[in-house]
Amino acid sequence: MISATHVAPHVALYDLHPPLDDFRSEVLHGLMQPQKFFSPKFLYDKRGAELFDAICTLDEYYLTRTEMAILRTHASEIAELIGDGALIEFGSGSSQKIRILLDAMPQLPTYVALDISKQHLQESCLDLVAAYPGLETIAICTDYTQPIALPKIPHLQAKHKVGFFPGSSIGNLEPNEAVKFLRNAATLLQPKGSLLIGVDLKKSKEILEPAYNDAKGISADFALNILVRMNRELNADFNLNQFRYDAFYNPIGRIEMYIVSLADQVVHLDGTEISFKKDETLRTEYSYKYSTEEFQDLARSAGFVSQHVWTDAAQLFSVHYLSLV
Ligand SMILES: C[S@@+](CC[C@H](N)C(=O)[O-])C[C@H]1O[C@@H](n2cnc3c(N)ncnc32)[C@H](O)[C@@H]1O
Repeated sequence: MISATHVAPHVALYDLHPPLDDFRSEVLHGLMQPQKFFSPKFLYDKRGAELFDAICTLDEYYLTRTEMAILRTHASEIAELIGDGALIEFGSGSSQKIRILLDAMPQLPTYVALDISKQHLQESCLDLVAAYPGLETIAICTDYTQPIALPKIPHLQAKHKVGFFPGSSIGNLEPNEAVKFLRNAATLLQPKGSLLIGVDLKKSKEILEPAYNDAKGISADFALNILVRMNRELNADFNLNQFRYDAFYNPIGRIEMYIVSLADQVVHLDGTEISFKKDETLRTEYSYKYSTEEFQDLARSAGFVSQHVWTDAAQLFSVHYLSLV
């Protein structure tokens, strides 16, 4: 494992960021498929992270406020389950939800934040230690869909490791990828680790669709921002006026999000030509929804057993506490 940069007295940053070449080759691979697609992990450059934070405050986006309310309501019960373990957050973003847990566990010594967006990760961890002085914070810039090795540091050796994966980000992975992610997480958290994970529940499309396609157009800006990122970082020439955003609920159990071409057109990316037909779609994200039982089955197939499930009164969202058998 590479060594850390100490960006503040209690913040160590390990940079395992995938190089620009990976972004270019993964994006080109996706754009060459019959159904063009991107991995949602590319949506979070600095602007993407800001837009995602703005989405979290929208009336239509019930997910963030509902999950935070569940965490607040059950914080002391969750704190008891975690004990003096080390918390490891996958996709820590602005590190806001973790504060609910930290407020309930002032004794917690170590927090590990994993995120692919390095600048946002670093800034969020600095904000966090300013609010929680003394909390040993380890920031690791990495892709959590790949196997991850934690740094060999004493804080993490003999601890009960508890993963935290909020935001229903598990829903962005296809079910087979979700099982793979959970198996990787199990390897990282073993021998007796646990995982606290937020999972969005199935519900009517009248609630779901506006959450992913809001009236102010921020979800659209968030998706279309990847075209801006490719223009800037990959020497591409996407014309933003020639694309729109769309999101709908597929009754197989997922929201599907797309960028739609408004015309027949050719785009260039680092010298490679990419053709779009009018109305052709480019998939940016799925967001799978699970009943409690469906998610417990998925977790079981990755070696986790369910210890607790908390939901809100309206049955919009679930938070599961899973443990390794
Ligand atoms: C939907 S946001 C969730 C942020 C926060 N955990 C929450 O629940 O509000 C997803 C976060 O995960 C990060 N992310 C997305 N895909 C990732 C990946 N494959 N590896 C590491 N981080 C990833 C993004 O940079 C972003 O900060």
